[in-house]
Formats: sequence, structure tokens, C-alpha cells
Amino acid sequence: MDGFHVTIRTSASPPLSGTYGRVWISLIGTLCESPPVRVEHFLLPGSAYTVVIKPKEEVGIVVLLRLRLEAQPGFPDLDWHCHDVQVRRSSEDPEVEVFPCHKWIRTADGYIELRNEKACLKKKETLDILINHRERDLQHKQQFMRWGTFVEGGPHCVDMTSVTALGPNMSYIRQRPVNNVHYIKSLIERRTSWSSLQELETFFLFNGRENTIAKYVQAHWQEDAFFGYQCLNGCNPLCIRQIHNLPPNLSVTSEMVRPFLPEDSSLGQEMERGHVYLLDYEVLDQLPANTVNDKQTYLAAPLCLLHYSRQGELKPIAIQLQQAPGPQNPVFLPSDAAPDWLLAKMWVRNSDFQVHQLLTHFLRTHLLGEVCCTATLRQLPEIHPLHQLLMPHIRSTLQINIQARVTLLATKGVFDKSIACGLEAIPLLLARGTRRLRYSSMCVPDDVRVRGLDALPICYYAQDALRVWDALHRFVAGWIRLYYCNDEDVQHDCELQNWIGEIFTEGFLGLSHIGSRRELLQMLFLCIRVNHMTNIFLDYNIWIPNSPAAMSRPPSQTKGSVSEEDVFSFLPEVNFSCHVLSVLSLLSQPAIDFVPLCHYNEWYFSSGAIVKLVEEVRRELKMLAKDIADRNSQLELPYPYLSPDCIENSVTI
Ligand SMILES: [Fe+2]
Repeated sequence: MDGFHVTIRTSASPPLSGTYGRVWISLIGTLCESPPVRVEHFLLPGSAYTVVIKPKEEVGIVVLLRLRLEAQPGFPDLDWHCHDVQVRRSSEDPEVEVFPCHKWIRTADGYIELRNEKACLKKKETLDILINHRERDLQHKQQFMRWGTFVEGGPHCVDMTSVTALGPNMSYIRQRPVNNVHYIKSLIERRTSWSSLQELETFFLFNGRENTIAKYVQAHWQEDAFFGYQCLNGCNPLCIRQIHNLPPNLSVTSEMVRPFLPEDSSLGQEMERGHVYLLDYEVLDQLPANTVNDKQTYLAAPLCLLHYSRQGELKPIAIQLQQAPGPQNPVFLPSDAAPDWLLAKMWVRNSDFQVHQLLTHFLRTHLLGEVCCTATLRQLPEIHPLHQLLMPHIRSTLQINIQARVTLLATKGVFDKSIACGLEAIPLLLARGTRRLRYSSMCVPDDVRVRGLDALPICYYAQDALRVWDALHRFVAGWIRLYYCNDEDVQHDCELQNWIGEIFTEGFLGLSHIGSRRELLQMLFLCIRVNHMTNIFLDYNIWIPNSPAAMSRPPSQTKGSVSEEDVFSFLPEVNFSCHVLSVLSLLSQPAIDFVPLCHYNEWYFSSGAIVKLVEEVRRELKMLAKDIADRNSQLELPYPYLSPDCIENSVTI
């Protein structure tokens, strides 16, 4: 035998994948391990070099490779992106064993090990050496990725305060187009209120004129039907729910709302028919509101009753601004003076802004995504099929969340400086939101059915979310079937059970065991989080009165106390508004290198049975995108947010 022919391949991309360093390599076989050999070749981008290794002893079947990168004296210590290593037992051997790597290796990493299997459950392992390798992989990750606390009572997060600590394989550079906030930033120093509606319109003319949806919002924001439409199809479609009984603290009587219901019906009958909906912002009750520009801002905790009419419109029919009923907490009605009713709706929109940004977006999408990512890294070794399925959808979560915690949510960040829920309220709100999290609310079909959205023809959010869910359901179910023959396989996968246990203990309390493939499927959806795209678009926020981030005056305690001019004096001052808008504008920009849902660069998606699954789901998603585009072309106001070509594979912003 002329020795093992070992080819070391450096990736052609990402850029700067080469290094001045040298690599040491040893073969780990079923019989023994060969001594490390230093490879005397330059590791240039896209290069492949073959070395011959002649172990003195018979190593058996090579099952692992051990690599170590060593800096060269006199040259900078650069990271190396290794594509893979290919091994033949001899020059004559036609069989090539591939040990995929596809990641950065640093000199500081010490020895790293590559194995040749693509994906495998622990119970399928037949060699102790490979079982030990899985365990070492997890031990290493568990030392590196530890749980930390962001707020008491909230989901735990990774215990890192700097993106650098993540290392090159868990961080990314997001390429985004130039963010033109020229006309917003030029007003950021103005510490006074908007003086008139005309002033707001002038501001909008410069900042919203190219956004057709924002222009629609500006034209229709005062209309009740548009208010209802936003509850279903706006940034935060997760609050509204059908009700069959009135909440006891809502002082609405049947008589009060009779003029807004069909003549031949009553509130009771409409509730029975499933035509009555509620927004309840109880989670904001008694939260301390922020002080901004040295001035107090205010929060409400409204209840808003809505009716779905026979004309197919959802309209608000009663708004109570605070939770506790009483003489100083009137129920505002569409028949009240126009400024009273408009201001009541603005309070609801202001409350929705807080809940949307901090609970729907940050807690449910970002923080729970981080729980999934951290648990996956800590409990599923890289060779585990679910690690491979999930990682392309969650890899970027840690970086964006660390950045959010140290900027947006930190002292002098946008919440501290410009939003009603500031640094005092955020921990309380996140803890309350975490206590109210329900596993079932994460599962789109259950959630939209329970909230009575599935049968509403005007709820495009529900229709599109269900179809995306359905396509992904088949994809993920197919993946699960490749590795789990039955529910017992799920129950006996100890790595999987540790993973789910950690998600529930570190994320939210409740179910701590996954006993079936169905439950596993639902859990995987929670991790993938396609809903994120409904949370970040700017279209509904540019027209400031439609989405006030803070209110400068307290909620009205009587009717008839505000004039038409007064309404705009409740809005946040100019610099707050502009600060919030400039941040939202940044957050809503799609990346130039945007990767759409189910488009994968990962090597394990390019061969075997997985390829068919990926092709099938991409075909379905493409058809869905076309259907949505066709539907939108017929709509006065399109709903593009859950079109699969708009959904990012992993949350990067
Ligand atoms: Fe986000």
C-alpha cells in the first residue's frame, strides 16, 4: 500500500477563505490513530492539495479526521475556511471518502474533528469512537454556549455581550442597500411637537411618497374599516381574537353598540355567530411609561371591540382605554365626536406598537428563536439531522439578538430615548409576555382557528400563513420520516429529548417532552419562525399618527375633552418620531444578500433524499408566491408580507 491520499480543499467562497497558516492532520481509524502530519502546502482560496500519509500501524477504517491550524512565524494569523477533506486508502483506490467541513477554522480552536457521515441519530451509531465524538462535540459547545439572563422572568438567552465572542461560524455580515434617511435625520434635533396636520403631511411627502402602501395608509388611517383591516393584516396580526362573551371588565352594553350592528341582530347574537372580535392590551396595564426629552409619556391598556359586518368589513365598535371600568374610563364609540373616537383608536394603535415591537416581534420571534438556536447548538451535535435541518434557519439569530440587546434595548437606545415602553417597562412587559406564552399559539393552524381568523375572507395573513405552513409541513415531515420511523424513535432519541427539555426550561414553562412525530413537527416550526416577515415592514409606520410610538398626554378620562387640533398634540415630539422612524427604516430593509425561505447553501442539502424534499418545497413555495402575486394584483391594498419570496430563510434583522 502506498499510503492514504488525503486531499485538503480550501473553500472558494466566502471571500478571504485562505490562510498563511499550515494545517496538521491525523487519521482516526477504527483500530488506531495516525500521528499528526504537517501539510506543507499553502491554503489558498479554492485550492486542493493532496498529501500522502503512511501510518506505521494499520488504522482500520478512517472514521474521523483531526485537524489543527498553526500560524506561520512572520505571517498574520488568519482564519481558514475549509471546504472538505477527501481520503483514499491508496492512489489506486477508486472510492473517495469525503469529510465535509464547510466552516472556518482558527488557530485558537486547537484540534477539530471531521466525520464522514452526513446525518445520523445517536442510536444508529455502531462505534464507540463516534459516540464519543458526538459527546465531545456537545461538551465543547456547552462550554462555549452558556445560558444567560436578559430580563428576570423572560426567556433565557446566550450569555454573550459581544458578537465577536460568537466566532466566525455563528456571525455574518449583512449587506444592505444604502438606507436613505436623509429627510428623517434632518429633523432629529427638533425637540418640539408636530404643530399641525399639514406639518406631518409635509414630512410624509418626503419620506413616504415612494411607498404605495404607506400612501394608502395615510389616505385611509382614520377609517374604521382600515383600522380593522390592520388588526388582521398589519404588522401585528397576533392580538385580535374572536370572542363569544364580553370580558367582565369591559363596560359595553348591548344597547351601547346596537347602532353599529345589523338592525335585525344584537350583540349577543353577533357573538354567537362569531362576528365579534376583541383586542385586549391587558399586558400593558399599569406599566411605568417612559420619560422622553425629560417629559413624561403615557401608556394605556385598552380593550377594543370589533364587529365583522355582512359587507365583509371588520370595524371597531367600542374602545375602553383602561382595564378597570369606572366613571373616569368611558367607553368610546364610533358615534362620539370625531376627535374623541379618532384619539381612542390612536391609543389602541399606540398600545399595539408596544406589544408588537416587544412581544410579537422581540419576544416571540427573536428571543424564542435564540432559545431554539442555543438549545440546538448545546444539545444536538452537528451530525444530528435536526441540527442540519434547523441551523440554516436559526444561525443568524444569536448575532442579531446580541446586537439588539447592546444597542436598541440598551441605555440611550431607541426604546430608552423615544418609545413609551422604555427601560423600566421592558423587563416587566417581557416577563408578563413570557408568562402568557402558549405553545399552541405558536402553531399557526391552531392559533388562527382559536382566534377565529381562518374563516375571515379579508384575513390575508391567516390565508398566507396557513399555506406557507402547509408547504413547510410537508417538507419537515418528509425530513422527519427519513430519520424517525415512528413515535418511539422520537421518544428514544435522548439528544432530541435533551434539546426539547432545554427549550422548555430555558424558553418557557410547559411541555418538556416530545412524544410523537407530530409534536416534533410543531416544535420545528416554532424554530423556523416564518412569521418574522409580518413584523418588520415599515409601510404602516411611516404615517406617524397611524402608529405612535409614544403619547405625550394622558389617556382621556371624559368624552368631549379634545378638539380636532388637540389630537395631534398627543403624538410624540418630532425628534422621537424621527428617531423611531430612522431605526424602523433600518430594520425593514431587506439585505442585498437576502436568502429566501428554503434556499440553502449548506452542503448537506445538495445530495441524497434531501434534494428531492428541497426541490419539492421550493416548487410549492414558488407556486404560492405566484398565487399571492396574482391575488395581490387584484387587491386595492396588496398583502405581500408572507409571500415566500419575501420570507428570509433565517432572521438577520
Ligand atoms: Fe426582527
